[in-house]
Amino acid sequence: MPLNVVILAAGQGKRMYSNLPKVLHPLAGKALLRHVVDTARQLQPENLVVVYGHGGEVVRQSIDAAGLAWALQSPQLGTGHALAQALPFIDERLPTLVLYGDVPLVQASTLQHLLHQAADGLGLLTVRLANPQGYGRIVREATGGVLGIVEEKDATPGQRAIDEVNTGIMVLPGGRLAEWLTRLSNDNAQGEYYLTDVVARAVTAGVPVRSAHPEGAWEVQGINNKAQLAELERIYQQRQAVALMNQGVRLADPDRIDVRGTLECGRDVSIDVGCIFEGHVRLAEAVEIGPYCVIREADIAAGARIAAFTHIDKAQVGPDAVVGPYARLRPGTSLAAGVHVGNFVEVKNSQIGPGSKANHLAYVGDADVGARVNIGAGTITCNYDGANKFRTVIEDDVFIGSDTQLVAPVRVGQGATLGAGTTLTRDAPPNALTVSRVRQTSLLNWKRPEKKKG
Ligand code: UD1
Ligand code: CA
Repeated sequence: MPLNVVILAAGQGKRMYSNLPKVLHPLAGKALLRHVVDTARQLQPENLVVVYGHGGEVVRQSIDAAGLAWALQSPQLGTGHALAQALPFIDERLPTLVLYGDVPLVQASTLQHLLHQAADGLGLLTVRLANPQGYGRIVREATGGVLGIVEEKDATPGQRAIDEVNTGIMVLPGGRLAEWLTRLSNDNAQGEYYLTDVVARAVTAGVPVRSAHPEGAWEVQGINNKAQLAELERIYQQRQAVALMNQGVRLADPDRIDVRGTLECGRDVSIDVGCIFEGHVRLAEAVEIGPYCVIREADIAAGARIAAFTHIDKAQVGPDAVVGPYARLRPGTSLAAGVHVGNFVEVKNSQIGPGSKANHLAYVGDADVGARVNIGAGTITCNYDGANKFRTVIEDDVFIGSDTQLVAPVRVGQGATLGAGTTLTRDAPPNALTVSRVRQTSLLNWKRPEKKKG
């Protein structure tokens, strides 16, 4: 159905006590307003407008995208005044769906249902709340028809007892919006131009007023403070956890996983407690993720095991690889099949070939490592001279002794062995032992210095 969507996001959010505008606070790693914009886009509106105000330029810069119009509301004189600022950017012949920038979890399916209900008039998304305090109440006639919305501050004690509230999300029919909005008055307890007053106007004009309801109250929960933000974050995460389990993922504890992006899982994936996934992460069949891993923008192939406390950022892990505990894979890392990267090993911008191992305490940066290479404990690629970065090439079947430094650019030939403690400054020939260290000597008559007396 062709429509306009207007997202109201000009409110200040004083109760967040933050320098960041409210609608830019993240939920599941994504700004509140971006959640709403993404949901709105699923409806494929003809026009999508954000009404912004406080901290406006920051909001606009961080959310702006093709196909988004921005209407400045300054000063902020109420929700009706806010919507009026969007009029120049919409097609007034089409219905207009109003969303709130601080109500992030409303589902496209719920909005579609509302639009469908309101096809011949004005549609309100309403919900019954055990504690309706603070919300506008839906006033109905005895036969059930909606008469209007009354704000809490303007309500009589009888009206305050109504538990059906206005979520704020509504559809306004095409053709009359401009007229209704220009005729709003601010003669009310808050001295604001209430968008909600258009409902009574529609009733007077004989426009049918319909209502629809969300799947759950969480969908229409707004965020005014950090406690509400945390509460919605948990709801969102629980829903994602349930969706993952329904696909067959084994979660050690659905209350202890955080997905801040999209997590794609194959069959028989298992995830232990305390893991955080960010951006797009793909876990192929039978991948096991140990406790307390942070995995961002990564692709983990079938059968790989990621042990506890591992951090992976923009990296690829090959099939049956074993990573961690306490490993760190940084951007540009790609591990081939069966690679082992063990504790306190950091790998950055490096390719590691099939079956190679770096099991303890190493830094592998800007390196091309072949197959079946063994990188001893304490090995470091010295990839940076303080100004420029250089690559290290380690060919197949190399054995690197412990505590070796490879001063890049440098190449270790196929099958070479580097003796422990080597500082490699020139290429090492294939199939030979290269060692660079002072020959071992023992001074048999040597005495330890003694403390001088007196
Ligand atoms: C509004 C509704 C109320 C409803 C409640 C649901 C009105 C008059 N009241 O009340 O019936 O139960 O939402 O949460 O509409 N905004 C602007 N410009 C403004 C004022 C608000 O853009 O001048 C935006 C805010 O950023 C926010 C939304 O509109 O996203 C709602 O504003 P808010 O002040 O929270 O409205 P309420 O008084 O809570
Ligand atoms: Ca509010």
